[in-house]
Amino acid sequence: MGLATRLTDALPLEYPIIQAPIGSATSPELATAVADAGGLGMLAVTWRESDAARDALEQAIADADGPIGANVVLDPDAGGDDLATLIDACLDADPALLHLSFGDPAPSVERIHDRDVLVAGTVGSASEARAAADAGVDIVVAQGWEAGGHVQGDVATMPLVPAVVDAVPEIPVVAAGGIGDGRGIAAALVLGADGAMLGTRFVATMEAAAHDRYVDRVAEADATETVYGEPYDGGWPGQPHRTLENGTTERWEAAGRPRDGKPGEDDIVAHGGDGEPIRRYDDALATPDVDGAIEEVPLYAGQSTELVEERRPAAEVVADLVAEARDAAARFE
Ligand SMILES: Cc1cc2nc3c(=O)[nH]c(=O)nc-3n(C[C@H](O)[C@H](O)[C@H](O)COP(=O)(O)O)c2cc1C
Repeated sequence: MGLATRLTDALPLEYPIIQAPIGSATSPELATAVADAGGLGMLAVTWRESDAARDALEQAIADADGPIGANVVLDPDAGGDDLATLIDACLDADPALLHLSFGDPAPSVERIHDRDVLVAGTVGSASEARAAADAGVDIVVAQGWEAGGHVQGDVATMPLVPAVVDAVPEIPVVAAGGIGDGRGIAAALVLGADGAMLGTRFVATMEAAAHDRYVDRVAEADATETVYGEPYDGGWPGQPHRTLENGTTERWEAAGRPRDGKPGEDDIVAHGGDGEPIRRYDDALATPDVDGAIEEVPLYAGQSTELVEERRPAAEVVADLVAEARDAAARFE
């Protein structure tokens, strides 16, 4: 099984591997390293001012030999700049792909196509995939329930991907969620996907803007140590997410997973790099400049955490993913 697919043709890319948008843990350095290694590097720009988003994207695009994409979260409850302003700022940098998630992509597709940029949309079901394709999206990302970070649907990757492939045969499908090594990439391709998007795996890279203590937990944790639900709804309510078990999720679960009146909800557990307090249930990713009880803030990770053993340079990760995918595919030759 070769690794050339409709996705590698469309972008174009050397390998059908996408570094997922991993919120504030994305950095121009990470995106550049992945792009230089033959994958698609991505910046998640939702929590940056529009000007800063454009600057970061321009920097990554200028530094990289390969393609760079940007992710914008559409849900207005996620916060961030005005959507059209943010999308226009990204388009000014001329990325290879604009990836929209957590909302209806339809109203934004024409704006992006007018600037000759490809649009990808995350979906959590086959019917969402069909609607996205009908709206003109060029690529769908099928995100399974085992994914890390915020999770769009409640179907696991294994049944979701073939259902989405059947629902949108005319466009490339990218599998996301639960893929931690090259065997998972080969499996996604066997299911009919044209590529794989990995998030948790790339949190544990040298170039990711992730605090050491967060990455240590990702490297140590087993698949059984993630929690899916809505504990960390401060700043982005109403969207389930998957994080590693910690003191905060244990207290929340022991109290019956409450929506209101969560135990210790007024605790200030850490401070951001800007000095802003981080409360116990805030949606605040542990970037290296966060100071305080790192183990209490949301340690976003998927069940693929089981397959992540250590923090490594992103280029090495991509090279290993490719070699492992080829080895796995060779079993069928
Ligand atoms: C730390 C972290 C932050 C994330 N932030 C975003 C984001 O900003 N936008 C988005 O669409 N998805 C986000 N996700 C979801 C990923 O893009 C992707 O769907 C997921 O990581 C795939 O599952 P995996 O972690 O098992 O690889 C995030 C995931 C993680 C682990």
